[in-house]
Parts: sequence; structure tokens; C-alpha cells
Amino acid sequence: MPQFNDTELTAAVISSFEETPDPRVKFLMEELVKSLHDFVRRTDLSFEEWDYAINFLTRTGQKCTPTRQEFILLSDVLGVSMLVDAVNHREREGATETTVLGPFYVGEHKPMPHGADISANLSGERMFVQSRVTDLEGKPLAGVPVDVWHADDEGYYDSQRPSYATEGPSSRARFVTDADGRFFFRTILPCSYPIPTDGPVGEMILQTRRHPMRPAHVHFLVDAPGYQPLITHVFIEGDKYLDSDVVFGVKDDLISSIERRSDKVMPDGQTTAEPWHLMTYDFRMKPGAGMAPKPMMAAAEDA
Ligand SMILES: [Fe+2]
Repeated sequence: MPQFNDTELTAAVISSFEETPDPRVKFLMEELVKSLHDFVRRTDLSFEEWDYAINFLTRTGQKCTPTRQEFILLSDVLGVSMLVDAVNHREREGATETTVLGPFYVGEHKPMPHGADISANLSGERMFVQSRVTDLEGKPLAGVPVDVWHADDEGYYDSQRPSYATEGPSSRARFVTDADGRFFFRTILPCSYPIPTDGPVGEMILQTRRHPMRPAHVHFLVDAPGYQPLITHVFIEGDKYLDSDVVFGVKDDLISSIERRSDKVMPDGQTTAEPWHLMTYDFRMKPGAGMAPKPMMAAAEDA
């Protein structure tokens, strides 16, 4: 019977993957074991702590539903999501910066006509969003689907509301760029919001005395054929959580000043009686390839 000291054990587990047919899977498994074993050795992990970790991960999985992804949230608050983003986007070459997908890319993103109000059923300060999708030289990209989603003015995504099951999506939609690469829509000004704190991830945030807040933002996923899928946010300048985003997702280039407007005519010529905000942000796409993620429920149906 082989017996191993703690260093030999690591070597034995690594060599157990020797016959793995896929070299990338073999490499990932070996490196994962090295890192996990190093963690246990460095911390002298106790049985109680190991048991807590197993229980924590079990509860994280149990908290997941077709519209809730506690594991993405865990990855986000531990900075893993932004690290994966960083190692995959080292050179942007003038392309728009990227950030986390987050756990709220769920449900169906219904195509809507330009100018549509994606938050027509919600209260809040009204906002007009106008944007253009181009290549790195500024050439417009037409016919490109752009998914948008954001929280309401109480800090909740539609999928967190009981009404989601009966009323369907709100503050989320798909637009397709016109011949000039443009798209535009109406919505409300989103506010900063706490990540869900009623699960194990929130429990960890509170126990470690971190705050759970994300600065106000709108999510965009731009998926142009022949270009790397762009997963990003546009953050709203002046938000008090820009310097301490709980998921470490803020980049300077993604912060946009929102104009407060009181003129009656909006950029598409329609009139309004109430004050409104204007968000203008253009996206520059980097040539390449890649698979854009699917909204969570659609991905589950495909599985
Ligand atoms: Fe978000």
C-alpha cells in the first residue's frame, strides 16, 4: 500500500491524471490540484474549516435556480471573474474595455425597435441611451445584436422580483444596430445596488465586513460576427461606489457622464414633458472570434 507524505501526495494526485486524453484538461487538473494542495499546506486547514468549505460550496450550489446563479456571484466577489477577464483581454488596441458578465444575464432578451422604452412599467428618472458600434477604425457595424440589461431604481433586476414569472422581463432587451451602427432606447436611470445577500455569498460578504454594493451601471453584450464578443458595463459617473465595487468591475474608460436634460425634444425627435438624462456611449469592437454567453435560462434549455 503506498503511503505518502504531504508533498508526495500532491505528486501522486498529479500523476493520476497522466492518461487524460485532452492535454488542456490534464494541465488544468494538475494546476488545480497544485493550488488546492498548496492552500491546505499553507493554512494548516483544520477539519472544521474543511467541513465549513464543503458546506459553503454545497449551499452555493443549492441556492442556484434557473434565474439565480450564486456561483457566478461567488466568482465575482472573489475577483476571479475580473481575473479571467484580465488574462483574456490583455491587449485592447483601442477596443472598448470589458468587465464581468455578472449573475443577471438571464431569461429572454426580446428584440425591440430603436427608441423603445424597456422600463415603461417602472417608476424612476427617465433616461435616453444612444450608442454606436464600430470597428477600431470607426467604421460602423450594421446588423449587430446588442443585449442590454440593468437594475431598477430600487436596485433589483427583473429576475429578482416575484413579478418576473407573470409579467416577464423588464429593463432588459435586444437591439440590432442600424446601417450606421447606431441603436438607441429609453429606460430609467439605474441606481447602485447590493448583490443578493440572502445566500452564502452575501453571508461571506457580511461576515468579512465588506459592503455588498455595486455602482450604478447598464450592462451591454455586443456580439458582432468577425469580432470578439464584447461583455461590458457603462457606469454612471459620480456614483459613490465606483471606488469600491464589490465585484472589482470598474474601469475608468467605462465611466460615462450622464447629462441631465430639461429640453423637450429627445435625440430621436420625440417630445417629453419631464426632465430626462442622456447616456451617450460608443462601442469599438476588436477583430477576432469567440462565443458570446447565452442568457442563463436559454443556456439551461440548450444543455
Ligand atoms: Fe449589474
